[in-house]
Amino acid sequence: MATGTHSQIDWLGWLRRWDAQQEGYVPEREARFDTMFEAMAELLPASFVAIDLACGPGSISQRLLTRFPEARAIAVDIDPVMLAIGRGAVGTFDGRLRWVEADLAQPDWPAALGETQVDAVLSATALHWLWPEPLTAVYRDLGRLVRPGGLVLNADHLAFGPAAPNSARLSQRVLDEQWTDAAFAARGIETAEQWWEALSAEPAFASLLAERTARFAGKQRQESPPGFDVHVAALRAAGFREVETIWQILSNRVLLAVR
Ligand SMILES: C[S@@+](CC[C@H](N)C(=O)[O-])C[C@H]1O[C@@H](n2cnc3c(N)ncnc32)[C@H](O)[C@@H]1O
Repeated sequence: MATGTHSQIDWLGWLRRWDAQQEGYVPEREARFDTMFEAMAELLPASFVAIDLACGPGSISQRLLTRFPEARAIAVDIDPVMLAIGRGAVGTFDGRLRWVEADLAQPDWPAALGETQVDAVLSATALHWLWPEPLTAVYRDLGRLVRPGGLVLNADHLAFGPAAPNSARLSQRVLDEQWTDAAFAARGIETAEQWWEALSAEPAFASLLAERTARFAGKQRQESPPGFDVHVAALRAAGFREVETIWQILSNRVLLAVR
C-alpha cells in the first residue's frame, strides 16, 4: 500500500512493465483476455461477481471491471509483492475490487475469499504453479463456489496429452524457441527474471520481497505441469458439465467450464 517507504514506488509503472514482460511470453495475451470477456458477456448477466484467481498485479481485474461496469471482483494471490502492486496501481475500482492474500495450495483458501458463491472464476498464466493434487482440490473447491450456470475460464499453456505426441512436440519446440533470453533480447522485451531483478534493486520493495520469500518457502516449480487432459478431467469431476477449449494456439488455450 502507498504508505511510508512504499509511497516512493511507481505502482503504475511496475504494472505496465509487468504487462509488457507477460506479453513477451504470450504475445496474444490481450486476445486471450478478450476471449474470456466475450464468453462472460454472452453467458452472464450484466451484474456479476468474479474471482481473479492467482491474479498477480491484477491485469485481469483491471480489464474486467473496465469492461463490465456492474461487475465486482475478488483478486486472489499468494504473493505480497503482486498484491501491493495491484493495490497501488489498480486500487479498489470504487469499491468493486477486493484484494485477498491466500495460498491456493492450502485447503483453507476459499475461507479467505469473503464470498460463498460467485458467478465466474478467471485465471491466466498461473494454475501451472499448482501440482496435480492441489490443482484437483482447487477445481473441487470451484465446483462448490461457482453457482450452477456459472463459469470457470482458465487461460494458460495446457500441454497436449499422451494421445497427441506430435502436437506436444511441435508446441514444445515453438515455446523453446520463443522463450529463450536471446529471443526476448532480440524483441527488446524484458524477461520475468529481469523484471524481478529490477524490482529487487529498489530498496522500497525490500520488506515486501522478504515477505514474498517467506510465502514461497518450500514451493517448487514443476518441470511438467498438469496438462490439458488433467484439467478437463478435474473440472468434470468437480461438477462442471461443459468443458471446452474456446481459443487456442498450440498448447496455449482458453478453457471454458460451465457449472
Ligand atoms: C505469471 S503470474 C500471472 C498473473 C496474472 N494472472 C497475469 O496474467 O498477469 C502467476 C501468478 O500466480 C501466483 N501464484 C502462484 N502460486 C500460487 C498459489 N499457490 N496461490 C496463489 N497464487 C499463486 C503468483 O504469485 C503469480 O502472481
